[in-house]
Amino acid sequence: MKIFLDTADLAEIRRAAEAGLIDGITTNPSLLAKVTGDREPREIFREICEVVDGPISAEVVATDTEGMVREGRSLSELHDNIVVKLPLTEAGLRACRTLSGEGVATNVTLCFSTAQALLAAKAGATFISPFVGRLDDVGHDGMEIIAEIRQVYDQYGYDTEILAASLRHPRHVLEAMLMGADAATLPSAVLYKLLRHPLTDAGLEQFLADWKGTGKSL
Ligand code: G3P
Repeated sequence: MKIFLDTADLAEIRRAAEAGLIDGITTNPSLLAKVTGDREPREIFREICEVVDGPISAEVVATDTEGMVREGRSLSELHDNIVVKLPLTEAGLRACRTLSGEGVATNVTLCFSTAQALLAAKAGATFISPFVGRLDDVGHDGMEIIAEIRQVYDQYGYDTEILAASLRHPRHVLEAMLMGADAATLPSAVLYKLLRHPLTDAGLEQFLADWKGTGKSL
């Protein structure tokens, strides 16, 4: 399963990329707004593309098809790795069909049902982003749609990749793996929780204490 980092923060991106922990990046307008300041958003996307060699999702902010297609074409010209992120609305699916037909990679976002995921696949989406945590927030079992979408895509032969999103803790990531998601996007906090284990820390401390007793170096 591919792991993407869900952020537009370049320091976080550099740290994870240099450690070889991530395969790509997802952003959204809220994440981009946190880091933009005086900078041009396109400059930020270009810089992310220089740091990470993998799919980089950049989301449109237009709400009409024409505007989404215009923004999508322009974003996709920034770098070969740009994936144009589009909301799962009628206008978004129309834009997805147009952009996918032109060979532009797309990520259909804000997916909250298996039926929506089927429509995105039919529109030619490269990735579908079901939002697990936000479904949990309103009392559903968000992971259920990951399993359902996997079943439906396999049953009908769609090659749209399932990108589990809005993952809030390591258990979400584990379940996404077990359900056969193609990719998962995580905030840094969740990524490093996957990496760390108290028994690893305790084990290392013991090894080093035992070795120190020998007074030798390697
Ligand atoms: O990739 C989608 C993600 O950014 C949404 O996460 O935690 O805001 O629901 P969250």
